Amino acid sequence: MQGLSTKHLLGIKGLTSNDIELILDTAKEFKEVINRPIKKVPSLRDITIANIFFENSTRTRLSFELAEKRLSADVVNFSASGSSVKKGETLLDTVNNILAMKVDMVVMRHSSPGAPHYLAKKIKANIVNAGDGTHEHPTQALLDAFSMQEKIGDLNGKKIAIIGDILHSRVALSNIFCLQKLGAEVMVCGRSTLLAKYISELGVKISNKVAETLAWCDVANVLRIQLERQQIKYFPSLREYSIYYGINKKMLDQLDKEIVLMHPGPINRGVELSSDAADSSHSIILDQVENGVAVRMAVLYLLAQNNL
Ligand code: CP
Repeated sequence: MQGLSTKHLLGIKGLTSNDIELILDTAKEFKEVINRPIKKVPSLRDITIANIFFENSTRTRLSFELAEKRLSADVVNFSASGSSVKKGETLLDTVNNILAMKVDMVVMRHSSPGAPHYLAKKIKANIVNAGDGTHEHPTQALLDAFSMQEKIGDLNGKKIAIIGDILHSRVALSNIFCLQKLGAEVMVCGRSTLLAKYISELGVKISNKVAETLAWCDVANVLRIQLERQQIKYFPSLREYSIYYGINKKMLDQLDKEIVLMHPGPINRGVELSSDAADSSHSIILDQVENGVAVRMAVLYLLAQNNL
């Protein structure tokens, strides 16, 4: 079997279409494994993986840990709060000290865009980017693509909309790269203050109208308003945002077609999505979370082949 073209997963931008297809095909096999009564395989026995999180996470962190345990890896978890980072230790010193304990792979979330790329130049272990600031979140894009394929089949020629706070979203950029490499058409939709200036250079359609976007797409991937990354006001109030950019079940029900609703989480209920939409039959939000484990198993398994 041909392996991945890369030793690290730093972003979707650096993957080939073949890499993405290999990960998604391998994830299909792992999804079957984790639905068996015995969910564990010995594929990464004797491999030690450190999950190093400098930013908060629920889904990504637990999903990686479960993926690692299902593959029989040894796992250590690090979070910056409560660590010696608080005493001034640098990122590189922190990681080198963890690697000195014979760690083979590092899964890292960091608030600085490019932090995993910097580490990849300095250390020997495989690195998986679990989200670097507003830059990329490659495993989220892969699990999103996997979940879309499960629901609507081959993504070639399919119309996928990404709606919300595009400017501050690492999920948006990784999704755009991933979907385009799989042949999908991508539209981004948001308030103009929440669309990055460079977005038009990425070959995506752009809209400021949610109704028009929902009428166009097969899948709507709705993104959270990332208030924690907003140093200035990008819109007058959350109430106004939800009136103009919020999506509810009625808007989905009145479309004259099936639509798939996605969200990477965490959801700001009542802001970008109403509860009746998030919990409706259009939504595959919890399928995305379920699929995250299989997709991350595939990524770790395939990367480990490039380090043995
Ligand atoms: N989707 C996602 O990255 O969620 P967490 O921040 O909870 O990991």
